[in-house]
Amino acid sequence: MNADELRTKYITFFKSKGHAQIQGKSLLPENDPTVLFTTAGMHPLVPYLLGEEHPAGKRLVDYQKCIRTGDIDSVGDSSHLTFFEMLGNWSLGDYFKEGAIEMSFEFLTSPRWLGIPVEKLGVTVFAGEGDIPRDDESAVVWKRLGIPENRIAYLPREDNWWGPAGSTGPCGPDSEMFYYVGDVPCGPDCKPGCSCGKWLEIWNDVFMQYNKTADGSDGSPGTYEPLARKCVDTGMGIERTVTILNGKSSVYDTDIFIPIRRAVERAAGWIYGSGGAEGAEKDRSVRIICDHLRASAFILGDPKAVSPSNVGAGYVLRRLIRRAVRHGRKLGIDGGNGKSMLLSPIAEVLVEQMKGPYPELLENRARIIEELDNEEKKFLETLQKGEHEFEKLLPNLLKDPRKIMSGRLAFKLYDTYGFPIELTEELAAEKGMTINRAEFDEAFKKHQELSRAGSEQVFKGGLQDHGETTTRYHTATHLLHRALKMVLGDHVAQKGSNITSERMRFDFSHNAPMTAEEIKKVEAIVNEQIGRNLPVTMEVMSLDAAKAAGAVALFGEKYESQVKVYTVGNSPTDFFSKEVCGGPHVERTGILGHFVIQKEQSSSAGVRRIRAVLT
Ligand code: ALA
Repeated sequence: MNADELRTKYITFFKSKGHAQIQGKSLLPENDPTVLFTTAGMHPLVPYLLGEEHPAGKRLVDYQKCIRTGDIDSVGDSSHLTFFEMLGNWSLGDYFKEGAIEMSFEFLTSPRWLGIPVEKLGVTVFAGEGDIPRDDESAVVWKRLGIPENRIAYLPREDNWWGPAGSTGPCGPDSEMFYYVGDVPCGPDCKPGCSCGKWLEIWNDVFMQYNKTADGSDGSPGTYEPLARKCVDTGMGIERTVTILNGKSSVYDTDIFIPIRRAVERAAGWIYGSGGAEGAEKDRSVRIICDHLRASAFILGDPKAVSPSNVGAGYVLRRLIRRAVRHGRKLGIDGGNGKSMLLSPIAEVLVEQMKGPYPELLENRARIIEELDNEEKKFLETLQKGEHEFEKLLPNLLKDPRKIMSGRLAFKLYDTYGFPIELTEELAAEKGMTINRAEFDEAFKKHQELSRAGSEQVFKGGLQDHGETTTRYHTATHLLHRALKMVLGDHVAQKGSNITSERMRFDFSHNAPMTAEEIKKVEAIVNEQIGRNLPVTMEVMSLDAAKAAGAVALFGEKYESQVKVYTVGNSPTDFFSKEVCGGPHVERTGILGHFVIQKEQSSSAGVRRIRAVLT
């Protein structure tokens, strides 16, 4: 069974059960400041799971492109992915546990559909916690359908409870379905859900019964409010399911990956799976390139595409592309020097392969290719600059009889030129030198602690943004935040911020649409501060000292003990704005230009969104 067949079968089956097929949505969620990407099929459906009527009815089915970056460091093994497709069916106040489980069982086991023998299935259900009882209702249905008791595991919240990636929203107990791949040595307590490798998850039925509210501004935890209407949300990952159904142990050995994997192999002159001493490392690089390329091409091919940048989703995109390029170099594919680029030829293969279910890839093909090439070139320039700097340092370095390069110096190459430590290590090794890695790690950690403060820390280990335009928007964001508090009241708190080189977007708590007059006032205040050409200064201090000095810190953000505090104003005590923030910011407000609010709209319940530009 290939991916296209699985996708089609799933949709056809649920349509035959009265579900309307809806379009999967953008990878870049418009109305959710809690996440950068659509992380599950239910994501675009949150308003409907919370009670709104869906125009297509109460039974829905779709396939949805998703990105999760939480496991990015594991990508390169046989199963972890950043980009994946999720199949899902929903009941909005229609069937609940019994109906959902019956349909899941039929789709999995009927010879007309997936035809998995019942002996190959195991399930888990919620074990209960506090006021929420054990999910015996689901277990009873599974047993009636033929799943024996010893194939049903009752697991706690960390396994059998599902809510969206952000901390608030619809959630509830779930029941997961597992495929038994064969005997793997394990303990006597091994049962479905065990991570020994015997059981692989293929599907998740979530029984949405609650809405988890946000934590209070006083730090009190949010509560679980029963939903007015109970819903079902399910998710089946296409890549994983195709792998299992074909008896493969790696997603990269399925029809989903083979075409692009071959494209990487051709570029590298390396046959995946050739073995040998270096083989495992090289195969890992091939897998990382395949995964990251897929994620990058889908982000760039999205109608709401972002460009690589240094904030938010653009930052993730930049890291994905650069990491793929770095692994390309490991395979000896050096995009520079007039040779063809690494990523765009692979993207061409992907577009061809996926244009059926995702026509937007074909529509945006030119943009995908152009942006990949641009970013790859930029990164190669960065690498060349770093290599050049390293060469300059070399005569001095070679004087050290121990042949150890200081970690601080390696950090400087990273910090100033964005030169990855692995490459400095490689260059050093070529000259028979090592790097004081502990010293580098220490400098890196300090830098991370500072840059984490107040910034959206969405990706591990960062290149810092010093782009001029985005820096101006960062500072404008502080002015806007303060102006909103002045005009609307102190309840205004930042809920999200998204900056590109074209515009800023700012989400904040406020219960009503702003009036035209309020918008004008806010604009006038921001422009007044720009006109005053106020200095912007930064100090590092403890979080407590920052709060005592009147700095605004984002609630719910995890700060390190030492934070950066940016002040816009004439002195530490006479200021317009003071915020805990990772920066960067301009030196004086005068260079911001003219601030214009283009749009003010609802973002989610109790949260408004402003889109503004500097002209
Ligand atoms: N939303 C559920 C999941 O992603 C189905 O597992």
